[in-house]
Amino acid sequence: YEAQLDLEDMEKGTYAHYMLKEIDEQPAVMRRLIQRYSDDQNHLKVDAKIVEELIASERVYIVACGTSWHAGWVGKQLLEQLVEIPVEVHLASEFGYNMPILAKKPFFIFLSQSGETADSRQVLVKINHLGHPSLTLTNVPGSTLSREAKHTLLLHAGPEIAVASTKAYTAQIAVLAILAKVAGEGRGLEKAKVFDLIHQLGLVANGMDVLINEKEAMAKLVEESLSTTRNAFYIGRGVDYYVSMEASLKLKEISYIQAEGFAAGELKHGTIALVEEGTPVFGIITDLVMGSHTRGNLKEVESRGANTIVIAMEGFERSGDAIILPQVDTLLSPLVSVIPTQLIAYFASLQRGLDVDKPRNLAKSVTVE
Ligand code: G6P
Repeated sequence: YEAQLDLEDMEKGTYAHYMLKEIDEQPAVMRRLIQRYSDDQNHLKVDAKIVEELIASERVYIVACGTSWHAGWVGKQLLEQLVEIPVEVHLASEFGYNMPILAKKPFFIFLSQSGETADSRQVLVKINHLGHPSLTLTNVPGSTLSREAKHTLLLHAGPEIAVASTKAYTAQIAVLAILAKVAGEGRGLEKAKVFDLIHQLGLVANGMDVLINEKEAMAKLVEESLSTTRNAFYIGRGVDYYVSMEASLKLKEISYIQAEGFAAGELKHGTIALVEEGTPVFGIITDLVMGSHTRGNLKEVESRGANTIVIAMEGFERSGDAIILPQVDTLLSPLVSVIPTQLIAYFASLQRGLDVDKPRNLAKSVTVE
């Protein structure tokens, strides 16, 4: 046991916490994924069998839990945009017991960092029984979900030790983007063909680097906005909503601040009742049209006393915005917009003196249903 601890400490190097190390590794993971999924002519490549079965399907079902489920929502956007096949995203713990009516030719994608989550596995067992094709995206080769699904794509993120998942989330989105690009090309779709994903993922990696170097500013922001609060909101529309869900989960997991990720337009239909003087409301904005509506929603909460903090992508920013995200292709914006939210959660936990890597009540991999 002691030997194992020493090894872990060595792996952590000069980092105070695994989570910070894993946040910092994300640009390298993006670059590694480009390499691992490229052929020798610098074209993105995915096992032809997987692509064939995916594009022969009528509907894709993404099944996952927790952070992986949040990555699934971004995956829906990518697959629908680039492959033009409808995608449903399901919580594994619900799907198995309350199965929707399935398309005649479904294709299942299981997202699981560990590949061991029991809730997801029970769905896979049922799907296998029905004889439907399945693919697992996992970080752990040889894991249960990888062995039992028909196909596997690896995340190549390296071991993720911190309970709060960071680099597996962005790796899942990047692999889903690669799958969507290759499958869209397989269907002969122009949008997929012209999407230069290798170049765009390179820009994402550079953008992540920029944000990761802004740790001091993030720490200061957290000190000013989250030091005494018991609750907070993240709001956005479209993929910014999906990232808001993940951002708030991260905050809950390690800082124990009660946080909710909300569709910006839905906030006024009830939840706005929770906004009080000083309630922090983060707005994520990576799209012009949706962003202008989100700004309207931020005004609504501001006039009720909220402390609004805007995270906006370059090109859509306004004066007074707290964090400016380097510009990347809108399809890939979650890969950069999530970075400050991971750092916000990290510093909120650190400043409260909590156990960043091993938060109470949580386990890295949950093997009970
Ligand atoms: C646990 C972890 C979460 C994770 C979820 C799904 O609850 O604490 O961080 O997102 O399981 O894990 P998986 O390994 O299937 O992605």
